[in-house]
Amino acid sequence: VEGPAVSAVAALPSISLRLYRPSDADAFAQFRRDPTSTALAFGSVQVPQPAEVVQQMADGLMARGDLIWMWVDDADTPVGFSLLTSVDWLNRTLATGSGVFSTAQRGRGLGTLGRRLALDHVFNEMGFRRAYGEFAAYNEASRRSHAKLGVEVVGARRQVFHVSGAYYDAIVYMVRRERFNELFPPDPNRYLGRRA
Ligand SMILES: CC(C)(COP(=O)(O)OP(=O)(O)OC[C@H]1O[C@@H](n2cnc3c(N)ncnc32)[C@H](O)[C@@H]1OP(=O)(O)O)[C@@H](O)C(=O)NCCC(=O)NCCS
Repeated sequence: VEGPAVSAVAALPSISLRLYRPSDADAFAQFRRDPTSTALAFGSVQVPQPAEVVQQMADGLMARGDLIWMWVDDADTPVGFSLLTSVDWLNRTLATGSGVFSTAQRGRGLGTLGRRLALDHVFNEMGFRRAYGEFAAYNEASRRSHAKLGVEVVGARRQVFHVSGAYYDAIVYMVRRERFNELFPPDPNRYLGRRA
């Protein structure tokens, strides 16, 4: 007999974006210590690095103009991240990469929510037009999560990812601001203190 529909999934934390700061290096170092997470996120397995090395990498990224945004819960604890690279202020395009730090917090909508917040800010507060990115061909969660945000697949980098002796494609996608805003129309009054 079928019982009533009961959600087995705990409520999502409400999350917001803030810039990376050095105390976040630990969360990244932990993420990068898990071979499955790095295979999913970067298409390769890394030798674990201490937080100091992660901090140096973060400094390098920020020095070249990349942005590291943390998805934080109400207690300001990082639950995930968006990395914004290839930031082209002339053509208003950039690339994003992202992840949910804890394996236990994946598969409950958090990744899609964090990406949505980041894209909304990129498109509707910073005035970017297109966001590019890629996911490994085996990364089904990423593929589905991106599909929910209105991405179009625009190509593939063949056989670039290398995990445990096998090569895999990187699927290249793009999100257009117009399509994203059809799916998630921004409230023009949200920060102006005006009534709709
Ligand atoms: C990819 C990632 C950000 C997605 O976030 P998430 O919170 O786990 O995913 P969501 O709960 O928002 O789910 C989005 C979709 O993926 C599906 N999904 C989630 N986990 C899945 C899994 N392990 N296998 C297959 N599909 C999965 C969900 O069912 C949902 O699709 P649906 O609505 O069509 O059913 C997250 O899993 C993650 O951080 N993974 C490790 C790092 C990584 O892969 N980064 C992305 C690099 S491109």
